[in-house]
Amino acid sequence: MEILRHAVVLVHLVGFAVLFGAWVVEAFGQRRFTRLMSWGMVIAAVAGLALAAPWGIDGSLNYAKLGTKLVVLLAIGALLGIGTSRQRKSGSVAPALFWSVGILTLVNAGIAVLWR
Ligand code: HEM
Repeated sequence: MEILRHAVVLVHLVGFAVLFGAWVVEAFGQRRFTRLMSWGMVIAAVAGLALAAPWGIDGSLNYAKLGTKLVVLLAIGALLGIGTSRQRKSGSVAPALFWSVGILTLVNAGIAVLWR
C-alpha cells in the first residue's frame, strides 16, 4: 500500500511539473494559457484528492493544509477556465490572470513542502 501511495505522489508531482513547466514556457513566450496547463492541473488534482484520503500511511494527515491546497487549486482552475474562454474570444489573456496562475501554483508547491 505504501509503495502505491508513493506512486500516486509521483503522479501528483508529474501533474505539478506539467502545469508549472507549461506555464514557465509561456512566461518566457507568448503569455497565453495552453491545454498542457489544464492537463497538468487535472493530473495534480486527481492525484492530490486520492492522497487526501488516509491510506498507505501510519500517521494522520494535516487536513488544514490539504483544505488550503484544495482552495488554491480551485482558484487556479477558475482562473484557467475564465482566462481560456476570454483568450478564445480576444486572442490574449489578461496579465493579472496569467501571473496569478503561476504564482498560485508555486504557492501550492510551497505549502506542500514548507507546511509540516
Ligand atoms: C496545483 C495544485 C497543487 C500543487 C502544485 C501541489 C504540489 C505538491 C508537491 C510539490 C508535493 C510534494 C511535497 C512533498 O512530498 O514534500 C505535493 C504533495 C502532496 N499533495 Fe499536492 N499539490 C497541489 C494540489 C493538491 C491538492 C488539491 C491536494 C489534496 C487536497 C494535494 C495533496 C497532497 C498530498 C496529500 C501530498 C503528499 C505529501 C504531503 O502530505 O504533503 N495537493 N503536492
